[in-house]
Amino acid sequence: MKKMIFPSLMCMDFTKFSEQLSTFERHGIEYLHLDVMDGSFVPNFTLGTDFIKQVRKVTDIPLDIHLMINDPENKLDWFEFGEGDIVSIHVESTKHLQRALQKIKARGAKPYVAINPATPLVMIEDVLEDIDGILVMTVNPGFAGQKLVPQTLKKIARARALLDANGKADAEIEVDGNVSFINAKLMSEAGANIFVAGTSSVFVGNMDENIDKLRDVING
Ligand code: DX5
Ligand code: ZN
Repeated sequence: MKKMIFPSLMCMDFTKFSEQLSTFERHGIEYLHLDVMDGSFVPNFTLGTDFIKQVRKVTDIPLDIHLMINDPENKLDWFEFGEGDIVSIHVESTKHLQRALQKIKARGAKPYVAINPATPLVMIEDVLEDIDGILVMTVNPGFAGQKLVPQTLKKIARARALLDANGKADAEIEVDGNVSFINAKLMSEAGANIFVAGTSSVFVGNMDENIDKLRDVING
C-alpha cells in the first residue's frame, strides 16, 4: 500500500503560506490535512469553514478534513468537500456514526472514522463496511506538539488486522499526532500508510529536507 505524507496545516507558518504550499506541490504531497476543532469535542479552536474554502481556491491538492467536532452529522453541510477528498469523523463525537459516514460518502468523499487513544477498536467494528480508512489518533487530539501515547502503536497493528480480517485490505490506516522521524518508522512497521506530519517532523527546520527524510523513513 502506498505510504503517504499529509502535512497538518494547523502547523503551517501562515506568513509563508504560499511558499509552503508550493513546497508541498513540488514534493508531490498527496493530501493536505486540515484539523477542524470546535472547542467542545477538543479544548481548542483551529481551522474553519472559510479557511477550507480559501485553501480550495489556491491549490489542486485534495483535502483530508479531520473533524474534531461534536455532532458532525448535523454540520457536514457547513464544509466544502467532495469527490477525491477525505473526511474523518470521530466515533466518540456522534450518536449516529453510520448515518454520518453515509452522508460523507453520498457527497463523493472518502469517509474515514477517527478514534482517540482511549477508545477501543471494538467501537468501530460495525462500520467497517462504511469506511475507506481509519484515522488512529496517536496523541490525545487538540494540540500540535504533544507526545505519542505509546500503546497506540499496538493499536495501529490491531486496526490493520481488523480491516484485513474483514475484507477491507484496501482500506487505509492514517496516524495523526507526534509523527516524528523515530515514531513514523514504528508506525509504518505497525501498519500505518498515511502519516499526518506536523511540528514533530515537517514543520521544524528545512521543509524540503524534512519531507525527503520522512519519505525515506516511511518507505525504508
Ligand atoms: C493533533 C492534530 C495533529 C497535529 C500534528 O490534534 O490533529 O494534526 O497537529 O502535529 P504534531 O506533529 O505537532 O503532533
Ligand atoms: Zn488531525
